Amino acid sequence: MNKTLSTISVLAMTLSFSHTSQADNFTEADLKHWNDEFMSVVDHGEAVFHGGLKNENTVSCDQCHPNATNIHPETYPKFQQQLGKVAVLGEMINWCIMNPLEGEPLALDDPDMTAIQSYIHYERRGVKLAPGKH
Ligand code: HEC
Repeated sequence: MNKTLSTISVLAMTLSFSHTSQADNFTEADLKHWNDEFMSVVDHGEAVFHGGLKNENTVSCDQCHPNATNIHPETYPKFQQQLGKVAVLGEMINWCIMNPLEGEPLALDDPDMTAIQSYIHYERRGVKLAPGKH
């Protein structure tokens, strides 16, 4: 690398680091706001999980997964036999929506999908990540 190029790349790195550190500036009020937003999505997920999907057969997640305690989000992505491939958590949620609940699958960025995942992850907070584990 010639001198001009390396000077330019050092400059570019410095600029991108200072950009990152700017993005990291936040206050206690920001933290509280972000946590409140998150917890309101968790609460919505809890409601969806306990019969809030309005599927015709009225089956709900908690009938088989009381309080999400027998769900292992920390093991995703992993190979799921029902899907025949390595899947993310949302794909497995859709499998349950389409099968026991006989409903339409949700888009992976649907607010209800985000809420269900927030609730499931929150219930298992603190558990070590173990992707792929059965
Ligand atoms: C009639 C029972 C039943 C209902 C109702 C049900 N599920 Fe399941 N669920 C299962 C079965 C069976 C499995 C497969 C277990 C396995 O292979 O890990 C499963 C697996 C899952 C998994 C993967 C668990 C893991 O640890 O890998 C998730 C996530 C999940 N369900 C979410 C949901 C959600 C969200 C709902 C409601 C929309 C729901 N389920 C409704 C029976 C049900």
